[in-house]
Amino acid sequence: MAEELYGRCALVTGGSGGIGGAISLSLAAAGADVVLTYSDHRAPAEGIADQIRALGQRALVLAADLRMPDAAAATVDAARAEFGQVDVLVANAGVGHQLSWEQVELDLWDETMAVNLRAPWLMTRAVLPEMISRRYGRILFLSSIAALNGGVIGPHYAASKAGLHGLMHHLAARVAGAGVTVNTIAPALIAGTGFTAVNPDNPAMPVPVGRLGSADDVAAMVLAMLTNSYLTNKVITLDGGIYPD
Ligand SMILES: NC(=O)c1ccc[n+]([C@@H]2O[C@H](COP(=O)([O-])OP(=O)(O)OC[C@H]3O[C@@H](n4cnc5c(N)ncnc54)[C@H](OP(=O)(O)O)[C@@H]3O)[C@@H](O)[C@H]2O)c1
Repeated sequence: MAEELYGRCALVTGGSGGIGGAISLSLAAAGADVVLTYSDHRAPAEGIADQIRALGQRALVLAADLRMPDAAAATVDAARAEFGQVDVLVANAGVGHQLSWEQVELDLWDETMAVNLRAPWLMTRAVLPEMISRRYGRILFLSSIAALNGGVIGPHYAASKAGLHGLMHHLAARVAGAGVTVNTIAPALIAGTGFTAVNPDNPAMPVPVGRLGSADDVAAMVLAMLTNSYLTNKVITLDGGIYPD
């Protein structure tokens, strides 16, 4: 596993967040240099970068407000300028303001789509040509069980995540022959992140395994997905048994 990612450059959006930070660290532990982005919270991203450097890998922290259409390509350009190329893209940054469907107005719908769906597409479009020409690439989208069961955050969030599945299906088949895999992980109820999780002490715990997931659980699955060249065009659910697929 370590050899697969050793010396690669990985770009992780939302590296300031719980899941993005854990993924960034696991990539570095596997030998990759990591570019992490943040939007509002630079300090946690810098903290992860320090830990990556302590592991002996290079780290670069970039500001990127992915509501802005130009931010995706600018981030990829900055990553390339520092590390030469982007071998691995983990489109992890996401927003999810919990509201009932009656309360979701146009601005929130558009912002959620911009960060959760448009930015992953724009970043993928920016990195795919060089991945295809080098005949190696790994693209991974962070979805949610909400894409499959509707979830509890709202229609904007569920639709934005479901859109990633269609994006993946369209692209994966077209780039598989060039050594590029495109996959999606769909977690649920991961504790210790900015997304509200249920109370683990609640007797009505909805997770069959009886605990919330951790960012490290997600990072371990992401690493397995990124190091398996025969895995592509797949949504892998990671939810403690909530969704029976
Ligand atoms: N936690 C869960 O239970 C769960 C379940 C299913 C799916 N997910 C998905 O997992 C991914 C990571 O979320 P998380 O759980 O780690 O939550 P988190 O700790 O809140 O992290 C969210 C990340 O997204 C970034 N972000 C937010 N708005 C942004 C914007 N406008 N432009 C660029 N980046 C922005 C945040 O950056 P700043 O903090 O710097 O603003 C942060 O790094 C998301 O896509 C989420 O939908 C999470």
